[in-house]
Parts: sequence; C-alpha cells; structure tokens
Amino acid sequence: MIRNTIVILSIFTLIVGCMTTSKEMTEAQKAEYLTLGDSLSAYTQQMLLKNLTKAIEASGTAGAVSFCSESAIPLTNEAAATHQVAIQRLSEKNRNPDNTLSSETDMKAWEVISGLMQDKDVNPKHWVTKDGEAVYYYKAIPLGMPTCLSCHGNKDTEIEAETLQAITMKYPNDKATGYEMGQLRGIWKVQLK
Ligand code: HEC
Repeated sequence: MIRNTIVILSIFTLIVGCMTTSKEMTEAQKAEYLTLGDSLSAYTQQMLLKNLTKAIEASGTAGAVSFCSESAIPLTNEAAATHQVAIQRLSEKNRNPDNTLSSETDMKAWEVISGLMQDKDVNPKHWVTKDGEAVYYYKAIPLGMPTCLSCHGNKDTEIEAETLQAITMKYPNDKATGYEMGQLRGIWKVQLK
C-alpha cells in the first residue's frame, strides 16, 4: 500500500514537474527569443523611421502626422506578417488608443523595461516572458532623436502650432507629448509564439 502510494506520488511529481518546466524557458531558449525579438524590432524600427523621414521631407512635420496615423500600424503589421509574428508599439502615455498597455503582462513589461532604463550598462533593454503557450518579447523605444520632439516634445516650445493641431484633430485624447530626449517613449511588443 505504502509502496503504491510512493509510486503514485512519484508519477504525480514527475507530471507536475514536466508541466512546470514546459511553462518556463531554458536560458538557451530565452537567449534565442531575445535575439529573434531584437532583429524583428530593429527591422521594423528602421522601416518605420525610413518612411517617417521620407514623409517629413515630402510634406513637413505637420503633414507627416497623417503618415504616422495612416501608415504606422499597417506598416508594422506588414513587417509582422512577413515574419509570421505579431508586432505592436505600446505606451503608458499613448497617442493612438490602440497602443495602450492592455494586459497584465504588458504592465509588467513596462515596469521591467522602465527599470532597465535606469541602468546605462544594460543593453539592449529587452525582456522575454512566457504566458501559457504564448511567448512575448518587449523592448524599450527611447526618445532617441531630436526629430521625435517635433511631435512628442513640449507643446509650447517644440511642437509647431500646425503640427499640434494636426495631432489634436486625429487624437483628441493624445497623451504622448511632453517628452525629453532619452526618456522611455514606448515599448515594442512582439508575440513570437
Ligand atoms: C510627424 C510626427 C511624428 C514624429 C516626428 C514622431 N512621431 Fe511617434 N507618433 C506620431 C503619431 C501620429 C503616432 C500615432 C501613430 C498611430 O496611430 O499608430 C505616434 C506613435 C508613436 C508610438 C506608439 C505609441 C503611441 O503613443 O501611440 C511610439 C512608440 C512613437 N510614436 C515613438 C516615436 C519616436 C521614438 C520618434 C522619433 C524617432 C517619433 N515617434 C517621431 C507622430 C510622430
């Protein structure tokens, strides 16, 4: 009887053990996901920046607001579809209502990445986590260039009146102004699995 109980208990421990390991990632898996997330987010960022620069050259900063509102999400989705993943840009102070931190994992990611922003020696400022079967990669989007200030900086001194008007028309609930160089503007979220 005792023997049977021990056998049953061991089998139970084994099963539970296997279940928990399947929920966590090995260090090697983590490293692999981080590398994949880094390259997908870098690719998407470069592609967005290239198109933003073109839009500013063609129609000025105020004109480029429509580029951002019409093309930022579709272009991001296109990049994601090519690689069969889902990619988003989220923020605690979002401009587009679709870019809000919406899950508990998103909030946790914001907290972790904000923490990494405090440490100059940690690079890249990224994080990967597993939620059930899903794997999410997150990475900091710092306000890295003076160009960003012309649409995300100080409303009185850095954003031109015409640009501000274009932003307010499209995003009446905009929270994404008042940033300074180097601050955390948003985070990449890539669902890898
Ligand atoms: C021409 C104005 C303009 C410039 C310049 C600009 N942005 Fe934005 N940004 C926008 C608009 C408009 C949106 C909302 C896009 C949408 O609807 O998805 C946005 C959205 C974002 C988001 C997604 C989160 C949110 O608030 O909705 C991030 C992150 C972001 N911008 C970062 C940057 C960074 C970093 C730079 C500088 C490299 C930059 N932006 C330059 C206009 C601009």
